[in-house]
Amino acid sequence: MRVKQIVTANVQEMSQRGAAIVAAQLTLKSHSVLGLATGSTPLGMYAELVSRNKAGEISFADARTINLDEYCDISADNKNSYRYYMNSNFFDKIDIRKENTYLPDGMASDKQAECARYSELVDALGGIDLQVLGIGMNGHIGFNEPAAHFVMDTNCVTLTESTRNVNAQYFDGGLDEMPRYAITMGLRQIMQAKRILLLAGANKKGILEEALNGPVTPQVPASILQLHKRLTVIISES
Ligand code: GLP
Repeated sequence: MRVKQIVTANVQEMSQRGAAIVAAQLTLKSHSVLGLATGSTPLGMYAELVSRNKAGEISFADARTINLDEYCDISADNKNSYRYYMNSNFFDKIDIRKENTYLPDGMASDKQAECARYSELVDALGGIDLQVLGIGMNGHIGFNEPAAHFVMDTNCVTLTESTRNVNAQYFDGGLDEMPRYAITMGLRQIMQAKRILLLAGANKKGILEEALNGPVTPQVPASILQLHKRLTVIISES
């Protein structure tokens, strides 16, 4: 395993270091395919990338983005959908062409067909150049939850009670409104990314340690990252 670990003093520094890596990726290849994540952790990085874009330092005009996951049966205009999150926190504020931004369609009536389409889409884009990841408190990446085996392809998952409890805080109606299912990119799509950038706040220290230095096990899905050749982890100490 070749993990580059960067320890930062705070979230602002973590966000700046993360943004600098994404910016460098775009400088190397303007038509990069960026794999993107949601959650609270990358918000500062997106804000920093917006500033750099507004300042004319970087452009997303040729970039394509593909997101890890989306809740099932929540429409794009629902403020809790990941499409809404990406548009409002990032895509609406940069020079990317919206048609070059992809998320799973959580409203699709045939979820299995949507999963297959999404896996094919990643391949059709030529794979992911740089995948941004967060990590769940239970070691999930995307919405690949702890399970008896690693799930390799885009799949429709039943969210665990622990994830539902953690994420319910973002829903006005709390747990009652929190979806039970989500579509997530599988571990194959994530692991085939040429580079991976994992961001983790101080509250993730324990699970990150387990994922990077504990046994590789589907009980801690992020532990599969130990097999990735080019993994950069940025962890914030506060
Ligand atoms: C969410 C997302 C993940 C994210 C993780 C951590 O539920 N599905 O992609 O990385 O959980 O979220 P946060 O950054 O808010 O802790």
